[in-house]
Amino acid sequence: MMQEVVFPSGKVEYYFGCKAGELLRGKANTVFVTDENVMGLHADFFAGERVIVVPAGEDSKSVAEVENICQKLVEMEATRETLLVGVGGGVVTDIAGFVAAVYMRGIDCVFVPTTLLAMIDASIGGKNGVNLGLHKNMTGTIRQPQAIYFDISFLQTLPDEEWSNGFAEVIKYACIFDRALFEKLEKRDTTHFITSRTALKSLVQRCVDWKNKTVVNDEKETGERKLLNFGHTTGHAIETLYHLSHGQAVAVGMVIAAYLGEQQGISKEQVSSRLATLLTRYGLPTTTQYKTQELMSLLRTDKKRSGDDIQYILLEEIGRGIIKRLPFATIEEVLSEYESNY
Ligand SMILES: NC(=O)c1ccc[n+]([C@@H]2O[C@H](COP(=O)([O-])OP(=O)(O)OC[C@H]3O[C@@H](n4cnc5c(N)ncnc54)[C@H](O)[C@@H]3O)[C@@H](O)[C@H]2O)c1
Ligand SMILES: [Zn+2]
Repeated sequence: MMQEVVFPSGKVEYYFGCKAGELLRGKANTVFVTDENVMGLHADFFAGERVIVVPAGEDSKSVAEVENICQKLVEMEATRETLLVGVGGGVVTDIAGFVAAVYMRGIDCVFVPTTLLAMIDASIGGKNGVNLGLHKNMTGTIRQPQAIYFDISFLQTLPDEEWSNGFAEVIKYACIFDRALFEKLEKRDTTHFITSRTALKSLVQRCVDWKNKTVVNDEKETGERKLLNFGHTTGHAIETLYHLSHGQAVAVGMVIAAYLGEQQGISKEQVSSRLATLLTRYGLPTTTQYKTQELMSLLRTDKKRSGDDIQYILLEEIGRGIIKRLPFATIEEVLSEYESNY
């Protein structure tokens, strides 16, 4: 099934329930980019194709790796007509999108997301880019791929930790937009979605719809798209400083944000404990050892800061996120209180 999504910066074809290999392989002038894990587990997919393989992991999201890939494209004599196909998790789609934006001032690209997180989040919305040292996603562009191929058969090889990472984002959508989804997740668990193809397909589709809708309305992130940062402000700092995975760090960040909303009197109901129970059900942590001062110094360099304030996403209730400008002093207070309670 093909669905066309029209973003301000361009339209994207979404192929759901597809066999990506059948649609993409065997075409002239195509170069695939993937990482070594995906290559190792899905070698058949790439048989006979031109492939650039990057090391697996976040370290590949670097300017050096962009240069490396561009160099290989030159060696392969890739032209402006070459189609770049990013097959992998968010690291691969972020870097492939960025390379496609800059190689010869821009070539076409498509994504085949192979992690749950990449399917429902990273591959959608046109943001791409690489890190600059500790500064995540500091260099990049907003540019849509031509198409995204959702082929859930790739997920059969996903390790448990990557399922959890994906579920952190699923739970994020439920918290900020979709109370019914939150309640459904409370009745199910990871095994249900791994074993039921139908349940997994509809879960992916529902989360993709939420991300599409948000980005279509606010591609440049001046308003509504900021809601997607729920759990990510503190989450990114925790991820960087304490080497938790993205999903684990966002999980902790979401509980902190829910708690912050309660402390500020913005939440109409007790959300943090119910959220913590759900995160635990999906194999995610709800707290970690951190030092408030270390987190604060990183938060003060966040892209969303302005003066002494930072935009923070809180929950009015489950299923309804809200953007609030909070002084750093308030966040510091709540973080140190949370630090000493847990
Ligand atoms: N552009 C955006 O809007 C956006 C949004 C969210 C996240 N991101 C970025 O996405 C990245 C995280 O994405 P991710 O969690 O997919 O990380 P990832 O790409 O590192 O993938 C996680 C791990 O799973 C492996 N893997 C991938 N597909 C697999 C498969 N089918 N079977 C087995 N193993 C597989 C990878 O090799 C890697 O080891 C971060 O860099 C983050 O900044 C971008
Ligand atoms: Zn995220």
